Amino acid sequence: MRTPLIAGNWKMNGSRALLEAFAETFTAEALPEGVKAALIVPFPYLDAAQRTLETTPLALGAQTLNVEVSGAHTGEVSAPMLNEFGVRYVLVGHSERRALYGDSDEMILGRVNTALGHDLTPILCVGETLEEREADRTMTVVLAQVDAVFDALDAAARERVVIAYEPVWAIGTGRTASPEQAQEVMAGIRAHLSRHGARLGESLVLLYGGSMNAANAAELLAKPDIDGGLVGGASLKTDDFLTICQSAG
Ligand code: PGA
Repeated sequence: MRTPLIAGNWKMNGSRALLEAFAETFTAEALPEGVKAALIVPFPYLDAAQRTLETTPLALGAQTLNVEVSGAHTGEVSAPMLNEFGVRYVLVGHSERRALYGDSDEMILGRVNTALGHDLTPILCVGETLEEREADRTMTVVLAQVDAVFDALDAAARERVVIAYEPVWAIGTGRTASPEQAQEVMAGIRAHLSRHGARLGESLVLLYGGSMNAANAAELLAKPDIDGGLVGGASLKTDDFLTICQSAG
């Protein structure tokens, strides 16, 4: 049985006040049984988030990490630092980082390895652009992004990675993939990874991301290969995020 996970990605948004609003909304009993949820906040908020969310069932996530653990990397943040703030999850290869900040498959693999080496759960983001979808290249692109990481990991490491399928054309656009479109790609990822062993196929946690909101979450999460969500815009509204978490139960 896979445990559903709803992760809220604040991106470069949020505030201390929003953290406090989350602490008020997410009481200890707020989540349905068997559902996990996390807030992935910008680095400066990790300290306050660790303290403010302590009484909530929300785990903490970071949006990227450096491959190295310390040294001359101005502006970067390391895995041991994330450990100090109780971070459990870290996004790797988000499409905004691939497109705007040069995150290559090689760098992404490095980040995944560093995360795994420091007891962090990497959430590997993959997804096609609109152009790639229209050229019928969705599965080729997505599976190449998956293989760039999974082919290089050993069996134990593979079982510790969460994958978020986020079609780039659905991110922040209000244009959600239909449950059928998402299910098709996600079933394809699961089937593809099953060649590393049936156990991986069964245990792999797959999140959908791209304009998931309080109104469409239940329908998406009802699909057999969608185990949870990576939620951007709707994770900035406490009630909407709570509704999405409840839809996963
Ligand atoms: P969105 O973002 O929900 O605002 O589309 C999702 C993401 O980029 O993780």
